[in-house]
Amino acid sequence: MRSLSLPNQLTPIGERLLLYRAPAPRQTASFGDDVRAGLSALQKRVSPRYFYDELGSALFEAICFLPEYYLTRAETEILERFAGTILARFKGPIDLIEFGSGSARKTRILIGALLERQVQANYHPIDISPSALIDSSMALVAEYERLHVTAYADDYFEVLSSARLSTSDRVLALFLGSNIGNYEPHEAEALLCAMSAAFKPGDALLLGTDLKKSSKVLELAYNDPTGVTAAFDKNLLGRINRELGGHFDLDAFDHVARYDVVRGVVESFLVARRGQTVPIDALGMEARFVASETIHTESSYKFAADDVIRLAARSGFRVEQRWTDSEERFAVSLLVIE
Ligand code: AVI
Repeated sequence: MRSLSLPNQLTPIGERLLLYRAPAPRQTASFGDDVRAGLSALQKRVSPRYFYDELGSALFEAICFLPEYYLTRAETEILERFAGTILARFKGPIDLIEFGSGSARKTRILIGALLERQVQANYHPIDISPSALIDSSMALVAEYERLHVTAYADDYFEVLSSARLSTSDRVLALFLGSNIGNYEPHEAEALLCAMSAAFKPGDALLLGTDLKKSSKVLELAYNDPTGVTAAFDKNLLGRINRELGGHFDLDAFDHVARYDVVRGVVESFLVARRGQTVPIDALGMEARFVASETIHTESSYKFAADDVIRLAARSGFRVEQRWTDSEERFAVSLLVIE
């Protein structure tokens, strides 16, 4: 059996579920350090990795149901149509490793198809948010009797570079939902390089990417009229208030999303409505804003077919096949290590 193992820190939660949890101090320290550095920079920024506390994960779940946020539905359509074709490409048993599993709703399509062709399956979700990871893993083992889950609540790079990644079966890694788009290009390349270094020739990565398209469609997807995405973005300030003793007034900021056609990226910002000074007690600092000053909170890169081919080639993969939804909004590509 192929397994990702961190033996000393794996906690059994029931018969078919093991959990590895990153040490809490590592996460808390990095949040405070990153907020201090980000809010002291000339272009203020807070990393999108901090969106996903319990409230942020729930808000992201809600985003996936918004009519304007077509990404989830388009990718689901692709997986529903092509899961069988994707898995048929592999001869023997496969282990699934998923980066950023969230609720694992789309993964169920692949797990269901996998269990139709093998007696049991090993699924290794990796997600920075322990609460979402535990909830979804427990639901999965309850739902699929022949599924074994080893879940990692940690940073992807930490898990990939842990040097304990030992596998025997063929691996199909999943990086869905256009999560790759939230990395700057050099970071995306570094992450895919870390994946190709951790896996073996013949292993594969199923990569979901949102396609380049009109600014109007993209900007609506990232700034919906219901205001859910604005709440998701502002939760970063709420989280600073809750966890670091910040004094942000969430009504004093607006959420803005702009598509940069040249760079192919939707960038999200929180814009200060007025000049203000915000103490952050746990950091012993004050963040000063002039009116209209922005905090960069997220980049969501969009990919043409060639962009994925280039990224794959630079990081030890080759694009073997690519599927799109019926409206050509989203793509799922199978990248193979040679
Ligand atoms: C998780 N990630 C791929 C989403 C995206 O589309 O960039 C996060 C998101 N931000 C605003 N809406 C959704």
